[in-house]
Amino acid sequence: MNDTPQIRLALAKGRVAKVAINLLEKIGWSFPDYSPGSRKLVFEDSTGRLAFFLVKSPDVPTYVEKGTADLGIVGRDVLMEHPAKVYEMLNLDIGRCRMCVAGYPGTTFSYNRKLTVGSKYINIAKQYFDSIDQPADLIEINGSVELAPVLGLSDVIVDIVETGDTLRENGLDVLTTICEISSRLIVNQVSLKTKTDAILPVIEAFEQAESGD
Ligand code: PRP
Repeated sequence: MNDTPQIRLALAKGRVAKVAINLLEKIGWSFPDYSPGSRKLVFEDSTGRLAFFLVKSPDVPTYVEKGTADLGIVGRDVLMEHPAKVYEMLNLDIGRCRMCVAGYPGTTFSYNRKLTVGSKYINIAKQYFDSIDQPADLIEINGSVELAPVLGLSDVIVDIVETGDTLRENGLDVLTTICEISSRLIVNQVSLKTKTDAILPVIEAFEQAESGD
């Protein structure tokens, strides 16, 4: 191995990690120890120049901000909900979905009635309802958010919608789209200066893979 420093990449576990790892392999990295079913958490490429590790998505910006990871791949939803001091370098155009307000079809909002909102994305929900002057009571929920209107815990939810299957199968619908979401390549601010020669080729390779070159 030469003196090139190892680049560490934090990946959000789950659907996006699978696509991101395929993208890495497409770019030319190979991870002999990696298999989708593996319980291992850190994987080095065969040259030892790149290692990726899998963490829960809200932890990706934390690892990158603190410099434990040089790079991270995480959804825009996470960066909006947990802003971090990192550079957002690329829109990777993977993990595409929408941040939506959803509920039973026909649910209406009114300035003079407080809406109850269930969400994993309390900050995004608050910002959105503040921006439209809709009074809202926010209830934090950590998963299976669609249950909230179905069981009467909240009037609506703010959540990501990818295929729309979860909403449809529970009799719910998108009421408003707040914004489009996709995964972003983020970089630690110090690493970009101190490991420039090692990091830039990785960023450029992602860029080329995205543009289909
Ligand atoms: C996400 C999201 C929705 C679902 C949307 O949940 O919170 O529930 O995916 O996807 P769809 O539009 O393709 O149906 P996730 O699968 O991450 O699990 P969770 O409910 O435990 O958060």
